[in-house]
Amino acid sequence: MSVTDLPKVEVKKGLDEVYVKETLLSYIDGANGKLYYHGYSIEDLAKHSTFEEIAFLMWYGRLPKKVEFEKFVNLLKSYRWISKDLVEYMKTLPKNAHPMDVLKLGIAAVALEDPELEDMSREANIRKAMRILAKAPTIVAAWHRIRNNLETIEPSMDLNHAANFLYMLKGEKPDEFSARIMDVALILHAEHGMNASAFAALVTGSTLSDIYSAVVAGISALKGPLHGGANERALKMIMEIGSPDKAEEYVLKKLARKEKIMGFGHRVYKAYDPRARILKEYAKQLSEMKGYEQLYKIAEKVEEVVIRELGATKKVFPNVDFFSGIVYYSLGIPPDLFTSVFAISRIVGWTAHVLEYWTSNRIIRPRALYVGELGKKYVPIDARG
Ligand code: ACO
Repeated sequence: MSVTDLPKVEVKKGLDEVYVKETLLSYIDGANGKLYYHGYSIEDLAKHSTFEEIAFLMWYGRLPKKVEFEKFVNLLKSYRWISKDLVEYMKTLPKNAHPMDVLKLGIAAVALEDPELEDMSREANIRKAMRILAKAPTIVAAWHRIRNNLETIEPSMDLNHAANFLYMLKGEKPDEFSARIMDVALILHAEHGMNASAFAALVTGSTLSDIYSAVVAGISALKGPLHGGANERALKMIMEIGSPDKAEEYVLKKLARKEKIMGFGHRVYKAYDPRARILKEYAKQLSEMKGYEQLYKIAEKVEEVVIRELGATKKVFPNVDFFSGIVYYSLGIPPDLFTSVFAISRIVGWTAHVLEYWTSNRIIRPRALYVGELGKKYVPIDARG
C-alpha cells in the first residue's frame, strides 16, 4: 500500500522564494545588485558608518544620537572580556580544531556564564546580543593564539570593534587604513536577509529557546562551504591556481566537471553582489600595499572567465565571499579564520532577526511530504537474512 491521498502541494526545494517573516532589517534587490540596511544603501553605510552603528541600527531600528551611541559603544566594549576558565578550557582543545567549531563552543560556554540567560525581556535579550557580539572576536582571536602556542591578548578599550579584533589576533595595533577596511568588511557582512544561517537562527529562536542557542545555530549553518565557508575555499582556490595565466584553464576544467567555483553565484543576486564590488576595490588597494598583487590578479582573471562563461546564461557573478578572502589575507588573517570573521559580524543580523521575530513569534514548523509506502510488515532482525 502507498500513500493514495498525497496532497496537491509543491515541495519548495531549498525553500526558494518562500517568505517566512516581514522585516525592516534589510532589502536585497537581487535583479539590480542593490542592498539596503533599514533603507540605507550599503554603499553609503560602507562609506560613512561604522560597524558599531550598524549593530545599533539593527537592534533599535534607527541610527543613534551621539550621546546614546557613546553609551552603547562603551557598554559593548565593557563586554569584550571572556572568563579565564573559558580561556583555560580552550587550551585543552585539539590544536587542529576549526575556528568555527571553537566559536560555536565558545558562545555556548559564554551562555552558561550569563546570569540573564533565561530572561526573555527585550532589554535583556539586547544585552545578551551585545555580549555575544562583544565576546565573539575575543574567542576567535584567543583561539588563534592558543593554537599557535602564543599568549592570549586582553581586549583594548581604546580601539573600536574592528581594530580591537586585529589587535587581539596579532598583538599589534593595526594602521588606520587596515582598521577602516576591517570595519567596512564587518559592515558589509552584518546582515543579509533570510539566508541559511539566519533561518537556522530563526528556527531556533522561534521555539523560544535562548538567543545564544540561536546564534550557535547560525554559526553552525554558516560554516558550510555553500554559505560562509566559501570565502576560505575561494582564497585556497586562488592560491592553488598560482598565477593569472593558469586561471582560465583551471576555471574551464572545473566548469567542465560541473564543479562550483567558490565565491560565485547567489540565490538572490542575479547581478553583481554590491558587497563584492566594494570589497574588490579594497582587495586591489590592500593587496598592492601588502605585496599580494599576484593573488588579486589571479582573482580578477577567475572573475573574468566565470562571468564570461556563466554571467549571461546563469546569472552567476562574484558574491561577498570571493574578494573578502584577499582582503582578510592582506590584513594578516589566515584563511581558516575567514568564516569566523564573517560570523563575528553576522551575529548582528542573526540576533536582529530573532529579536524582530519575537515581537510576533510563531514556532516555525513546516511539513515534509511523505511519498513512501504504508503498512510495511515489520520483520524481526534475526529473520532479515
Ligand atoms: N560555480 C559554477 N556554477 C554555478 C555556481 C558556481 N559558483 N553557482 C551557481 N552555478 C550554476 C549551477 O550549477 C546551476 O546550474 P544548472 O542550472 O545548470 O544546474 C545554476 O548556476 C544555479 O545554481 P544553484 O546552485 O541551483 O543555485 P542556488 O541558489 O541553489 O545556490 C549557491 C546558490 C549555493 C550560492 C551557489 O551559487 C553556490 O554553490 N556557489 C558556490 C558557493 C558560494 O560561493 N557560496 C557563498 C554564497 S554567498 C553566502 O552564502 C555568504
